[in-house]
Amino acid sequence: MKLLVINGGYRKGKTIDALVEKLIEGAKQNPDILVESIRLVEKDIKYCANCMVCRNDDPSKEVAVCPIDDDMKEIYQSIQDADAFVFASPINMGTVTAVMKTFLERTCWTLAKPGTKPIKGCPEPRTTKDKKAVVILSSGVVPPILRTFCDDATSLIKSCCQTSFGAKVIGSIYAGAVEKKGLDHYSQKAHELGKRLAKV
Ligand SMILES: Cc1cc2nc3c(=O)[nH]c(=O)nc-3n(C[C@H](O)[C@H](O)[C@H](O)COP(=O)(O)O)c2cc1C
Repeated sequence: MKLLVINGGYRKGKTIDALVEKLIEGAKQNPDILVESIRLVEKDIKYCANCMVCRNDDPSKEVAVCPIDDDMKEIYQSIQDADAFVFASPINMGTVTAVMKTFLERTCWTLAKPGTKPIKGCPEPRTTKDKKAVVILSSGVVPPILRTFCDDATSLIKSCCQTSFGAKVIGSIYAGAVEKKGLDHYSQKAHELGKRLAKV
């Protein structure tokens, strides 16, 4: 089983990295788990050009063609090979980081084809596999109780999982007000989610 971590954080060794590490620790209780981590800021990921080549590509392809020549090519391969995903991002200005949004835009129609629900033309996954996902988010000051005012990220990622990645989100962490509450407050949950994600 292959687990792919998509890390949209900007800082190394801080909140998001620590929670991802805890999750991986939990996932590794399954000895057959293979983990690949992608730190998006270290990759060359250009903006989507809205050329619609991907949307118009053969719907039977698992990944549609994209004319942009950058690191997304290798990332698409990793996505195709993955059985489970972790989407991890700090909450910046109420939503995912810019690099995570850029990445998600690039997957919008390369991993999806025009479907019929809720209306004709809306994206549905090209993959026919049933995958799983976990979302990890952290915010500096907004506590979990006020999450609704500062978390557009969970719904965005959940929607991308449904429309493009073909993945069911089995759990999420909103590590709110982490500056005050500290990491330990959220570590155990990350470990547990890792265990659940890696369960076959
Ligand atoms: C540009 C920017 C915008 C941010 N916006 C928010 C915000 O809207 N709400 C919040 O609670 N924290 C906000 N933060 C704080 C980050 O969420 C916090 O530093 C991050 O979760 C820590 O992740 P890291 O330790 O892995 O880098 C922001 C930080 C930056 C740099």
